[in-house]
Order: sequence, then structure tokens, then C-alpha cells
Amino acid sequence: MSTPQTRSRRLRILLVVLLLAAGAGFFTWWKLFRRVPTYYASPEEHFKYGSIGVEAPAGIPYWIWLVLPRIFPDKLPGPGGYIALGASWEMGREVPIGFTKEIVGIPRVGVNCASCHTASVRTTPADAPKFYLGAPSSRFQAQGYVRFLFACAHDPRFNSATIMREILAIYKMSWVDRFLYRYLIIPFTKRQILQTETRDYYWMPERPDWGPGRTDMNPFQRQVMRLPDDHTIGSTDVMAIWNERAHEGFFHHSDGLNTTLVESVRSAALAAGATKSSIDIPSLDRVQAWLMDLPAPKYPYAIDAALAARGRAVFDSQCAACHAFGGARTGKVVPVSEVGTDRHRVDHWPQSSADAFNHWADGYPWAFHHFRSSNGYVALALDGVWLRAPYLHNGSVPSLTDLLEPQEKRPKVFYRGYDVYDQEHAGFVSSGAEAERTGFRYDTAVPGNSNQGHLYGTDLPAADKRALVEYMKTL
Ligand code: HEC
Ligand code: HEC
Repeated sequence: MSTPQTRSRRLRILLVVLLLAAGAGFFTWWKLFRRVPTYYASPEEHFKYGSIGVEAPAGIPYWIWLVLPRIFPDKLPGPGGYIALGASWEMGREVPIGFTKEIVGIPRVGVNCASCHTASVRTTPADAPKFYLGAPSSRFQAQGYVRFLFACAHDPRFNSATIMREILAIYKMSWVDRFLYRYLIIPFTKRQILQTETRDYYWMPERPDWGPGRTDMNPFQRQVMRLPDDHTIGSTDVMAIWNERAHEGFFHHSDGLNTTLVESVRSAALAAGATKSSIDIPSLDRVQAWLMDLPAPKYPYAIDAALAARGRAVFDSQCAACHAFGGARTGKVVPVSEVGTDRHRVDHWPQSSADAFNHWADGYPWAFHHFRSSNGYVALALDGVWLRAPYLHNGSVPSLTDLLEPQEKRPKVFYRGYDVYDQEHAGFVSSGAEAERTGFRYDTAVPGNSNQGHLYGTDLPAADKRALVEYMKTL
């Protein structure tokens, strides 16, 4: 029988239990989910290090991220930690350009646009690299990064004892955090990485290696939309994203799969790991606003002005209709049957996927409406083209000089990912001992890698070709 006393005791116990549960809930939220955005006053710093919303769903806890290369140097392609994956690391920063450190409960590391859209250039092997924001990276190994994480998570040394020992050797962690890392965060991170591999990247082993400065477009359909595997190859070179105001009205992406910059920007964040609920639209709007007037960088070496002037005349007669601002076909899609380049990338994005993406985010204020399928590749404006090597949508031709040769004379095998600039050919050094040692062996015989097609200018006299290359350095 319940007396008023026992009833009030039960009520008190219930209250205590509720308070404890609320406290535990708050503690869990605070320690694991609370997002503290880092604001960078300069738009440039924001581009380099600002979050686009990747950390909550796909971030790696900072302290784990930091010690992984120390525990598993054998799983990286060379010494130097993440630099071995072609990341651009500025002196004194906690993470490389294109990586973010943001608190979601604990500090977590994500990636942003700058990981792929920042180039590094050296004049001689002895120089420090100069970084160019908005340029296509020819060095960053996006695939190498995810493969490194997968390989670490598969290794039995990815355990709380080993990882905590490494962390505590460099950082004095509070006992609460130690407890959380040991029993929750480390086991959960391992599981999350392995799950990402089987759920989002199961298709990857069947596809050719991307190599540095390239990706495969499959994540749009497999990871973001979860469309069934159609076994197509989406190998593609990273593109320049500067000077977007001058590109307004152009088709975006190599095959022109979208007509608006805003949707290209937002969908890129999803492919980079953000989700419907985590995507940071204000941050992306800020990036986009900054890209509008980010100038294409000037060629930093000497240009023979007289030769370039002769080249301009050749360009105007042979190339301008497709490549000059204001050209009749500039920014439009040229059918692959006409341009003749490798067709894997264009076949990879069918109308059914475009339709699916146009409904995928229905109900969200940022839903997509402008995705489409095309039958070819965009004839891009050539602003800053000197820095966009290797050339064509799949990055299959190492230099501008090589692009003006017929396919038989273009290199069949070359090395990508070495950042010393070759002023004579206009591109990066792509052969020789150093390029071979640090670069990725690009074989044009691999499906998706063909260097065929785009034969414009290939039968010009040698003097005209030289002049044309000199002129393109001025763009
Ligand atoms: C993992 C590497 C990677 C990351 C990260 C990345 N991109 Fe890209 N981006 C690419 C590649 C590769 C292409 C070319 C794809 C194709 O074939 O269409 C591209 C193309 C683009 C284009 C189309 C350019 C044009 O002129 O048509 C835009 C715009 C763009 N990216 C913006 C962004 C923004 C903004 C972010 C960050 C939210 C971002 N990208 C993140 C690799 C990346
Ligand atoms: C009929 C239109 C057309 C003409 C004419 C044309 N191009 Fe192109 N160009 C394209 C297309 C389309 C692409 C993209 C092809 C691809 O990536 O597969 C392209 C790509 C390029 C690229 C690679 C850009 C990059 O960022 O990778 C360069 C450089 C280039 N063209 C230079 C020239 C030069 C020089 C001429 C004149 C001798 C010329 N083009 C004539 C349509 C044209």
C-alpha cells in the first residue's frame, strides 16, 4: 500500500533519475556533438581552413588524425606524414590547406574545397612550393587519403592502447577525455571508417586508380545518392574554380552537368562528405562569393611578347571560337563525337542520375534543379591555363606543347604529381628521375585515361605551335 511518504520518496527518486539522465544527455551532447564553428575573418583563410560541414558526419577526431601517420608510416607512399599524399602544408599550421579543424564535441578534422582546388608550383626542386588557391591541384591524392584511413582501420594496431600511447606522448589529455577516447571515440572512429569503406567506397577497387590531382565522379552517385553501381568509370581531373564572374552562363563541370555555379558548389560539399543535415550553406555561399572575383594567376616567368603576339593571331583563327571569352562556343558543350576525347567521363553521368539528383534534396531550401546529362565536354575559357596542367578533362596530356601534337606523338606514359614547372613545354615536369620518384605513373592505355582527340592545331607548322603556346601563357 503506498502512503503519502513512499509516494513522495518515489517522486524524489524519479526526479533524481531524470536529472541524472538530463545531465548525462547534456554531457554527451557537449562532449560529442556540440558544434563550435571556427570563423576566419579573411575569405582566403576561410577557403583554406574553413568548415563546409564535413566534420560531424565524416570528420576524424583531431588527436587520432594527428598520430595515425606516426603509427602507420608504412601505409603512406613516402615520408612526411600527410605531405606524402600531396597535401599543401603551410609552415606553422595545425593542418594542411584544404583540411579543417573544428569542434564537434571534440576537435575533428574534415576536408574542404581547397584540398583539391589548390595547386603547388616550384621553379626548381630546391625551391619552397608556392601555393595557388582556386587552381586545380596536380598533387593531392584524395584517393590516397581515404585509402590510408581504410588501411589504418583494418590494422590491428588501430586500437585504444596503441593510439592513446601515441596521443599521450604529445598531449596532456584530461582524464575525462582519456576515458572517452579509450572506450568510445577510438572504437567508434575505427568502426566508422570501416563502414565508410563498405558503404560509400565499395565500388572503388573495381575502378582505375585516380592518381594525384584527379578523382572519380562515382561518389556523387554511389556515396551521396546511393544509386546502384553501374560499373562506369568517372575518372576526372580537378578543374580551376577562379574568376567565376567571367564564367557566368557557362556550363559547369567537364561535361557541363550543371548550369549554375551555386549548385556546383553545394553538390561538391556533399561529395566531399557533408550530408543533408550537416552541409554548411552560409560557409559555401562565402566561398562562392570569394571565387567570383578571385583572379586567375598570371604566368610567373618571362614571356616572349613578340612571339606571343604572333601566337595570338593563330589562336584567334584556330581556337578563339571555342576558348576565348565571348567565343560562339565558349562555355558550351562540344559533342564527344566532335572533340574525340576519352568518353568514359561523359558516359558516367546519365540523365537518370541527373533526374534523381534534381529531386534528391526536395524540401530543402537548397534543393537541386539544374543537373543534366550531356553528350560531350565543355569548351572552357582558358584563363590561367598555364597552371591547369595536365590537360583535358582526364588530365591525360602533360603540357600545352604535347596537346598540339597528334595522339601518336603525345606521351603514352608520364608521371603526374611532381610540381616543378616546365617553362619550355608549359606544364609540370612529367618525366625524369625526380618526377618518377615522387609522381604517379599515368598510363594512357588504362580505361578512362586515353589521350586521344582534340586534334585542333596539331597540323600547324612548328613555329606557329611555339607561338601559340607562348600566347597561352599570357591568358
Ligand atoms: C576531392 C577533390 C575535390 C574537392 C574536395 C572539391 N572539388 Fe571541386 N572539383 C573536383 C573535380 C575532380 C572537378 C571536375 C569534375 C568533373 O569532371 O566534372 C571539380 C569541379 C568543380 C567545379 C566546376 C568548375 C567548372 O568550371 O566547371 C566547381 C565550381 C567546384 N569543383 C567547386 C568546388 C567547391 C566549392 C568545393 C568545396 C565545397 C569543391 N569543389 C571541392 C574535385 C574536388
Ligand atoms: C570546336 C571547339 C574547339 C576548338 C576549335 C578548340 N578546342 Fe580546345 N577544347 C575543346 C573542348 C571541348 C575541350 C575539352 C575536351 C576534354 O576535356 O575532353 C578543349 C580543351 C582544351 C584545353 C584543355 C583545357 C584544360 O584545362 O585542360 C586546351 C589547353 C585547349 N583546348 C586548347 C585549344 C587550342 C590551343 C586550340 C586551337 C589550336 C583549341 N583548343 C581549339 C574545344 C575546342
